[in-house]
Amino acid sequence: MDAFLLHSRALAGALVFAFSTLLLFPELSCAQQTGITRHYKFDIEMTNVTRLCHTKSMVTVNGQFPGPRIVAREGDRVIVKVVNHVQSNVSIHWHGVRQLRSAWADGPAYVAQCPIQTGQSYVYNFTIVAQRGTLFWHAHISWLRATIYGPIIILPERGVPYPFAKPYKEVPVIFGEWWNADTEAVINQALQTGGGPNVSDAYTINGLPGPLYDCSAKDTFKLRVKPGRTYLLRIINAALNDELFFSIANHTLTMVEVDAVYMKPFDTNTLIITPGQTANVLLRTKLSFPGATFLMLARPYATGQGTFDNSTTAGILEYQHPNASSSPSFSKKLPRLKPSLPSLNDTKFVADFTSKLRSLATTQYPAKVPQTIDRHFFFTVGLGTSPCPKNQTCQGPNGTKFAATVNNVSFSMPTTALLQSHFFGQSKGVYTPDFPIVPLTAFNYTGIPPNNTLVSNGTRLVVLPFNTSVELVMQDTSILGNESHPLHLHGFNYFVVGQGFGNYDPAEDPANFNLADPVERNTVGVPPGGWVAIRFLADNPGVWFMHCHLEVHTSWGLKMAWLVLDGHLPDQKLPPPPADLPKC
Ligand code: C2O
Repeated sequence: MDAFLLHSRALAGALVFAFSTLLLFPELSCAQQTGITRHYKFDIEMTNVTRLCHTKSMVTVNGQFPGPRIVAREGDRVIVKVVNHVQSNVSIHWHGVRQLRSAWADGPAYVAQCPIQTGQSYVYNFTIVAQRGTLFWHAHISWLRATIYGPIIILPERGVPYPFAKPYKEVPVIFGEWWNADTEAVINQALQTGGGPNVSDAYTINGLPGPLYDCSAKDTFKLRVKPGRTYLLRIINAALNDELFFSIANHTLTMVEVDAVYMKPFDTNTLIITPGQTANVLLRTKLSFPGATFLMLARPYATGQGTFDNSTTAGILEYQHPNASSSPSFSKKLPRLKPSLPSLNDTKFVADFTSKLRSLATTQYPAKVPQTIDRHFFFTVGLGTSPCPKNQTCQGPNGTKFAATVNNVSFSMPTTALLQSHFFGQSKGVYTPDFPIVPLTAFNYTGIPPNNTLVSNGTRLVVLPFNTSVELVMQDTSILGNESHPLHLHGFNYFVVGQGFGNYDPAEDPANFNLADPVERNTVGVPPGGWVAIRFLADNPGVWFMHCHLEVHTSWGLKMAWLVLDGHLPDQKLPPPPADLPKC
């Protein structure tokens, strides 16, 4: 039999197989036909970048800061080849992408994969299913995401309109944080001394600090608009350690989507966005040329005891002059208006704002809130301390080291990846399946802190059978002071069914849960001195990281992982890893 014959027989067999598959799963064929495949290449390389008159060599993707955009439609397959040309290990996370049965492409180092080592590459391959809006990608190892991040723009399927007015233009607005120093040195030093890390030197909008910082007027993001149009701002908080307020002088914003899920629109002058959250907002420009320019400002919402970068980043909204013939004349002489932002610790504003977020919950975009719950969990989240090693002085509270926990477990990162050790049945010595479902000792979580602030350490997971419906209450603790914690769950969206201040009351609070149209997202702020309740369906097999998206808290151990087991049906199982999966 010659090669051609062999080939054509195989082909015929494949066609027969494909045809019968179509008959069996017509909806599968639809899903396969809707999407195309989009290829990207990310070269991780060292690049000199100057901000605040300070040049540093830093890790970038393709020499760009912020990094390149990923654009795809709902239903598309995205293939990104990441090649590591730098000395540090890297991995990339596609934050908020559900990764249905593609846990190998999720990205967090030592959880979903071993990091990509110098000179090595890895191909991330995933399909975007039932999501549309804005997400982002970022490095997921140590603090490399300070410089390695960029937008993910998910358009609806071709021919499917937005459930709001079609915007004239769409503009990503990404917040970041800039350190003059090398951020790896910053976090390594902090972990050594046990104290808080040095804070950033500036916040940025699309990589630019703006005119309120020294030496930065030329590094200002300018949004140039026409009167009487609607712009869609795709807002992303890629900052490491700070939740941010954002406002544009004299303009109202309409929130239409968060974390790549449509929501019931509402108008606001100011929004709050935690690290890890995204928001699409409509900006309707004034009907005629206003004779002024408008600052857009972002500055932190800070609740902890420690120091933080309390500076303000600014961009400028400029109107194109109607008489401008060729290149628009953006006059420097126009008055520049400034928005007023809430005070730096305005928890009431934040609680009011977040209580307005609601799922769209229509027949086309339903809110599939789990109505019955298989398993309930109660997790405390917050800070604590670790003892100072002998013969060392430490700079944490009372000469200890800062630590952070979920249910008083400070998560120890393994030296191999959790997902592969699970998949190949080699979990012994890597992790234990015994993460506490409630705190080991109950106490007044938001009252006078206990004397003993010591944490325990472990690599402990919660194991869930496929399709378990989960309710999780996350409770802030006052152990080292109340603080807001934006908790991010990989691999799922969840519904935020309730939130409140003080200690969660399992007898009274569930009666007030919203099970009809709660907001659906992947990152939620646990209020300082309060709690949130979330629900999700564990319909995605894999090992899924959950952590505070304030990077310093993640570094201190405020992280854990869920292991969701395979289901019985073929499409409920995690396929084997790709051949190029990095090794540790
Ligand atoms: Cu955007 Cu595990 O993170």
